Amino acid sequence: MEDDGILLMESPQRIFEKYHIDEEMGFALPNPLEKLPPPYDEWISIAKNLPELIKKNELRKKVDELKILSIDGLSGHKLQRLARLALGYITMAYVWNQGDGDVRKVLPQNIAIPYCELSEKLGLPPILVYADCVLANWKKKDPNGPMTYENMDILFWFPGGDCSKGFFLVSLLVELAAASAIKVIPNLLKAVKNQDEVTLKKALHYIASCLHRAHKEFEEVHKHVDPSTFFKVLRIYLSGWKGNSKLPEGLKYEGFWENPKEFAGGSAAQSSIFQCFDILLGIQQCSGEEFAAEFLQEMRNYMPPAHRDFLLLLKSGPSVREFVRSRDDVELKADYNECVKAMVSLRKYHLKIVAKYIVIPASQQPKNNQASEESSEQKNKGTGGTNAMDFLKSVRTTTEKFLLIDH
Ligand code: HEM
Repeated sequence: MEDDGILLMESPQRIFEKYHIDEEMGFALPNPLEKLPPPYDEWISIAKNLPELIKKNELRKKVDELKILSIDGLSGHKLQRLARLALGYITMAYVWNQGDGDVRKVLPQNIAIPYCELSEKLGLPPILVYADCVLANWKKKDPNGPMTYENMDILFWFPGGDCSKGFFLVSLLVELAAASAIKVIPNLLKAVKNQDEVTLKKALHYIASCLHRAHKEFEEVHKHVDPSTFFKVLRIYLSGWKGNSKLPEGLKYEGFWENPKEFAGGSAAQSSIFQCFDILLGIQQCSGEEFAAEFLQEMRNYMPPAHRDFLLLLKSGPSVREFVRSRDDVELKADYNECVKAMVSLRKYHLKIVAKYIVIPASQQPKNNQASEESSEQKNKGTGGTNAMDFLKSVRTTTEKFLLIDH
């Protein structure tokens, strides 16, 4: 098989280059750009001032006044990702404005056309996705300093003060901790093929340690993200227009498509990192609830195409799980289980976070306040549009089933 060949024959560097993966940063965009050349700098100046423009109720007017720009002058992946990030922020702000229920169902052509053209070019839907607001939305304060919360910042903000920074940077730091395990994947798969248990154990051990570090990073969310601001403010700006009663038909992208289109909102469910380790460990989410499997599969359409392809490539590779099962090696099984347990533990922790940041604030909403114009079903939904707890519990339970148990 050609794909099998790439995984087992090519050098890790070649594989990572082909699938747009950075050896250290995984799926995150290394050193994103922050400036666009004229005339595109107009997009940046709006995106940079979103909270202020929204507060003064000037955002929509500014967007309505933009000239339609051809995207031909945007050359290079990083420039295009930055333009997409800025247009994504502006689009979310245009639709939701002050987050008070006054929504726009039509995105004017002066922004819709370049946004849709650029999105097509990058193989992503024209809505703010995780690959924009988390993977391409960061910088180091001191370029020679470490990748730590203290030494990092985001490039664009939504209303809600530091909530955007907290949510996007903590997500990025979780992602990065887990992503440092990607570099051992090619050698791990070669070890399976060569039946080299010593190398395989080392690689599994390393993956488990990275997932444990990811858990530690996750715990930082409490320090940096306020539940009430997340629920009442940031969640609104990340919401999409798929299955959303506020835009029942979706959003009309004027001048690009005749009919409105539905797209799910930005969510860490669009991260490739958890799906990557599910596949590597043989955790088949498709063996769980149909809805959960379908949703996770659908979320791949919101990942950069190269990352989506990497997941398919992994799926076509040798099965770690089957190899471990076939051996009578207690240590090997324990090392494999350590990785699955780390995935279970991340997902259990994530459930607690969702209870704190969505379920509890939803239950505390007064009946007739603005945000509670949302139906109670809508309020308990994640930004990706799922009924969060049911979905996440199902994913956790499926993950647990993949622990190898001695009989
Ligand atoms: C305040 C913090 C967070 C909240 C409230 C939250 C909420 C949610 C919700 C509601 C979903 C269901 C899909 C949807 O409708 O959006 C989801 C899925 C998911 N989230 Fe989060 N999330 C948070 C932080 C994170 C972080 C930091 C990560 C890791 C980078 C993460 C990774 C995932 C993954 C991978 C899924 C898909 C389900 C799975 O594979 O387990 N989340 N999240």
